[in-house]
This record gives sequence, C-alpha cells and structure tokens, in this order.
Amino acid sequence: MARVIAFVNQKGGVGKTTNTVNLAAIAGEVLGGAAAGESSVLVVSTDPQASTIWWADRVAEEELPFDYLQCDDKPEELARLKKLDQYEFVFVDSPGSIEDKHILSATLDATDEVVVPLPPAAMAYAPTRRTIETVLEPRNMPYRILIGDWDPRDGRVDLEQTQDYVDGKEWPRLNTVIRHYKIHERAAAEGQVCTQYPKGRIGLEAREDFFRLALELGIGGRPLPKQKRKSPVKGKV
Ligand SMILES: Nc1ncnc2c1ncn2[C@@H]1O[C@H](COP(=O)(O)OP(=O)(O)O)[C@@H](O)[C@H]1O
Ligand SMILES: [Mg+2]
Repeated sequence: MARVIAFVNQKGGVGKTTNTVNLAAIAGEVLGGAAAGESSVLVVSTDPQASTIWWADRVAEEELPFDYLQCDDKPEELARLKKLDQYEFVFVDSPGSIEDKHILSATLDATDEVVVPLPPAAMAYAPTRRTIETVLEPRNMPYRILIGDWDPRDGRVDLEQTQDYVDGKEWPRLNTVIRHYKIHERAAAEGQVCTQYPKGRIGLEAREDFFRLALELGIGGRPLPKQKRKSPVKGKV
C-alpha cells in the first residue's frame, strides 16, 4: 500500500498546492519510474479548485515525475488508489475552505499523515488552529506543521514568532522551513516543477528545501533490493 500524505489547512493561500506539487516532484524524481503512467508517485487533488491539476497540465508530460488526478467529486476513490501496486507515495492537495467538510473528511479517511502548511503570518494562526482543533485532533490524525513561504530577507522575527506560537501550542512541527522564492511563485504559470528549475544558485536553493522536507518525512529509504546469489565459487582459491 502506498503511504498517503495530505497537505491540509482550511485556510487558502498557505502553500498546500505549492508544497504538494514540489514535494511530489522530488519524490517522483528520486524514486524513479518517471515515464508516463509508470511513476511511483501519484498526486491527488481533492480541492474543487483543482489548482494542482491546472499546474500539472502545463508541465511537459515527459518532464513531470508523477502521475496526477483530480477527484473532488469522489474523494472516497483515494482509498482505492492507495492500494494500487504501482505507487509508493500518494500526495494529496486538499480544499482550502471550511465549506468542503465532506471532501476533507473523506480525504482524511484514506490519509496516513497530514502536513499542515503555515506561513509565518499571524493572520494564518486562527484558521490553522481551527483546522487542528476541530478536524485533525478529534480524529487522532497524525500531523506536523510545516512553516513555509518564509522570506529570509524579512529577517527571522516572523519566523521565530511563528515557531514559538506552534511550539507553545505543542503542535508537532517539522524542522524544515520552506523559504519564499519568486521562482516558486512563477512556476505554475511557467509550467515548471522544482526539479526543472535552472541550476543557478536560486534554483538550487529553492529546490533544496523540498529535498530537506523529503528527507525529514522519510521519503525514500527503501529496503535494500534482494541481492542475486552469486554462484558458489568452484575450483581453487
Ligand atoms: N515557498 C513559496 N515561495 C513563493 N511563493 C509561494 C511559496 N509557497 C506558496 N507561495 C505562493 O503563495 C500563494 C498561495 O500558495 P498555494 O500553494 O496556492 O496555497 P494553497 O494551495 O494553500 O491555497 C501562491 O501564489 C504561491 O505561488
Ligand atoms: Mg491550493
């Protein structure tokens, strides 16, 4: 069964789509099988706004290292999709509004763990708290906060305040912070995912955050493949 990781926050604009697409790109590239229909990574959008699909549709098929699918009208499909042999990981982009309660609840039924994106902005605190306290904690859903869209040029004050807020609530938090880069913002319109960024400093730094995230989430780390037994050595040593 595939491991299903959903990006959830009932507030829109916190980075669910950006993080889903870029983490899936890293996972898909590293885990291989990038040929269309053979990827080991699937992205599912249960967000009726389908931004993930709009984005993925714009990327050249041969350069997109994951499969993707919109299923907001039938979020229960997720339970079936995770059983497909082909996929090791399913990343889910979920709705960013409190109206889509049924979709979110059906999404979580088939989800193994949740990443809650949170930008370092006080305005996002209350909706994030509502998502955690009314949706995730009552279901005993394993979750971790991911602080992202932090612009280092703004200094560390907002970042540290947000980390303190999260730690004060005793919400589990990922150490990785996704930095704000213009290149991420433009990527959807450009039809790019982070594995396609130019290899200059900015492109590599922007992508690095998603490698860190993948490492922290334990993506990869397959067991060693079974070694072929060598035939016993015959004759003299
Ligand atoms: N790390 C980042 N760097 C730059 N822009 C970002 C970053 N994360 C999100 N954004 C921008 O913030 C806006 C909202 O992000 P999005 O992923 O669409 O959020 P959501 O899916 O939660 O609504 C988008 O314009 C996106 O490009
Ligand atoms: Mg979105």
